Amino acid sequence: MTSGPHVTIDLSALRHNLTVIRAQAPASQVMAIIKANGYGHGMLRVARALAEADMLGVARVGEAAALRAEGDMRDIVVLEGAQTLDELLLAAELDLSLVVHHASQLDLLGDIELARPLACWLKLDTGMHRLGFSPEDFDSAWRRLDAASAARAAPGLMTHFCCADNPDSMLTHHQIRQFRESTDGLPGPRSLANSGGIFGWPDAHADIVRPGIALYGVSPFEGETGATRGLRPVMTLKAPLIAIDQRRAGDAIGYGGSWHCPEDMLVGVIGIGYGDGYPRHLPNGAPVRLNGVEVPLIGRVSMDMISVDLRDAPHAAVGDEAILWGEGLPVERVAEQAGSIAYELMCGVTSRVAARVSEDEED
Ligand SMILES: Cc1ncc(COP(=O)(O)O)c(C=O)c1O
Repeated sequence: MTSGPHVTIDLSALRHNLTVIRAQAPASQVMAIIKANGYGHGMLRVARALAEADMLGVARVGEAAALRAEGDMRDIVVLEGAQTLDELLLAAELDLSLVVHHASQLDLLGDIELARPLACWLKLDTGMHRLGFSPEDFDSAWRRLDAASAARAAPGLMTHFCCADNPDSMLTHHQIRQFRESTDGLPGPRSLANSGGIFGWPDAHADIVRPGIALYGVSPFEGETGATRGLRPVMTLKAPLIAIDQRRAGDAIGYGGSWHCPEDMLVGVIGIGYGDGYPRHLPNGAPVRLNGVEVPLIGRVSMDMISVDLRDAPHAAVGDEAILWGEGLPVERVAEQAGSIAYELMCGVTSRVAARVSEDEED
């Protein structure tokens, strides 16, 4: 085993988080959102670990094809749907479910005959203004889909929240109301809630909830961490301390010499940098955890290394393992310092960072 940076993926935490989500929305089925390589956690291992999820959600046909190649025969919903005829035919061959969010996709479906019609979800735009039919166009889109012999009858009906990370958002109430109005009287299952909707808007749970970030142990709400909701971090990013040196007052640290030692002090170098996905924009003082204490980041993040202030960790030794985020250091805190979100940090871990999978069941 090499000594470089690595992520630990705690599959028992992942399963625990699914249990927490089910308890929040006990009457709903769960579509586990595992796009973008399972939010950086490894899509295939996440899918395997979440054997209890009722169905899976990915962004693209290629992601769904990778799951089928692994033998996952669950319902897989492609959230962006098919963009071309080839994708549509592949989706039919693999028996995927496609979200239909645009007239061009209705055209594709209207032009073909399939031996086995596709399961579809029709998407309503209730305020995100990204994908989906407007409330004005929704009824006619539904009729076109209903008339397409390539699509199964009674498509699912869905929308996506744009502000569910803010529990005070009035827009989410508006989106729920709009969804009810526009889908009133239509057959088919309904799905509205992402992680924010699951924890913040019980009246949006409907038939199927679509958790992403909460599965990975992160709170969907600004200003809190997953622990507040009983969630456990799945990803912990670690890297070894590779050098410790005594520096003098006034010494400048790292590229650009932007941080100066205020006194004679110990400075540590940790073997992780932006080449591993550690955010380059993290400022001085960003938290790093070492041997149970926080050792603040000092100086600029390099490609392969960062420097930390070891004044509070005088017994640190080369080879000690630092935690960049995860167990004991919520990724939400680090993301906030980086001016980003936990989603981006977790998706951004690069392929040179080895993954170690932990299966220990603690529940
Ligand atoms: C359509 C759709 N549903 C659900 C999700 C899951 O969202 P979250 O990770 O905030 O739970 C996403 C993620 O972007 C999505 O695009």
